Amino acid sequence: KAAQDGCPVTDPAAMARAFDAFEGPYQLDPAEALRWSRDQLPVFYSPKLGYWVVSRYDDIKAVFRDGILFSPRNVLEKVTPATPEAMEVLKSYGYAMNRTMVNEDEPAHMERRRALMDHFIPANLEHHQEMVRRLTREKMDAFIDQGRVDLVEAMLYEVPLNVALHFLGVPEDEIAVLRTFSVAHSVNTWGKPTDDQQIAVAHDVGRFWEYAGKIIEKMKAEPEGTGWMHETIRKNAEMPDVVTDSYVHSMMMAIIVAAHETTSLASVNMFKTLLSNREAWDDICADPSLIPNAVEECLRYAGSIVAWRRQTTAPTTLNGVDLPEGAKLLIVQASGNQDERHFEDGDKFDIYRDNAVDHLTFGYGSHQCMGKNIGRMEMRIFLEEFTRRLPHLRLAEQAFTYLPNTSFRGPDHLWVEWDPALNPEREHL
Ligand code: HEM
Repeated sequence: KAAQDGCPVTDPAAMARAFDAFEGPYQLDPAEALRWSRDQLPVFYSPKLGYWVVSRYDDIKAVFRDGILFSPRNVLEKVTPATPEAMEVLKSYGYAMNRTMVNEDEPAHMERRRALMDHFIPANLEHHQEMVRRLTREKMDAFIDQGRVDLVEAMLYEVPLNVALHFLGVPEDEIAVLRTFSVAHSVNTWGKPTDDQQIAVAHDVGRFWEYAGKIIEKMKAEPEGTGWMHETIRKNAEMPDVVTDSYVHSMMMAIIVAAHETTSLASVNMFKTLLSNREAWDDICADPSLIPNAVEECLRYAGSIVAWRRQTTAPTTLNGVDLPEGAKLLIVQASGNQDERHFEDGDKFDIYRDNAVDHLTFGYGSHQCMGKNIGRMEMRIFLEEFTRRLPHLRLAEQAFTYLPNTSFRGPDHLWVEWDPALNPEREHL
């Protein structure tokens, strides 16, 4: 009876109507915000968003698994459609963001993915470790005697950005402007800008698009250049039907965000989660061999991509719910990652969990994140360095803020404190 009473707290139909992806509980803790859905209405239509929301682990995995019925073509579509004025602004920059890798249908996608896979295989990632460690140490050297720092400003924004640019072979000269661009791209794609904000965001996105075009020209002038985007440009010349011009330009813009923002936010979430669970932090400080699984558990419990999208190409049913052709789906990995049907006590953080690696934060199936091992490597090295040099680190008192959007999640700042007089390496000097 309670389930049908129209009460916004107990009636699932009312909860579905009230679901808001841009404010309130979903912004703070998407898994907790959808607990009611996992338990009562695992596939529901959100009229506010215009999407079907999918919250259970098995359903999300089933959607990821079938890339034909559940096309990724809407993955980079604007969740909030552009106003006519914003469209005009974008047009004035020649903005033509189209298919990259992540939103390409088969069979074009697989052909492209295979052609561009080489740089991502673990053996070819090894040599990036040294750079990650060096950059981490340099940043830590700069603040280790301060006793208090915002980890985002001090390193977790910049190190993943430098690593991403290095991996891609993109010149590292305009880091500050890239920050504005990345935020604009996220708001433009996954956010809910007001009509006025749409204009400002459209200008930044337009400039980002122009900038991506210029980088491509610059890189074309260095045919021997190293890095994945150089490889992409060479493949574009070799097989222009597979690695198309439109792909190269769109990807140049999208990959900077895909490679960098994802990893920065995941690292911020990781420190926040571990420092909020002191026992786990103390355990990895005492035994660094626990770090790789702790990284997976952080990705499961507090991943940086909390939801992704798909669109049906034919009428179908998902967990008993009829979906029409063209239905837009918001598949909430953060919710699936805490689904107790797959993860025992899924809402508990446990670095000893033996199936933590089953999380869906990197997606699943044919589009699964190509850069997952780069993200993991960075997160592991950050922890290796911090647990050794700052085991007495603690979270400072603070209120966390987030960029309102459906998919990218991590606090804007993360203030931490410690007593520099107790730094272990200092004592050993
Ligand atoms: C795809 C998450 C780091 C490159 C994806 C997808 C997700 C994701 C959810 C879509 C998967 C799907 O549709 O099944 C993440 C997270 C990261 C991360 C959480 C960090 C913690 C990176 C890095 C790179 C990268 C560092 C590159 C250097 C890509 C590419 C794809 C992708 C190229 C498209 C794959 C395809 O469609 O075949 N990522 N990513 N990602 N990611 Fe990542």
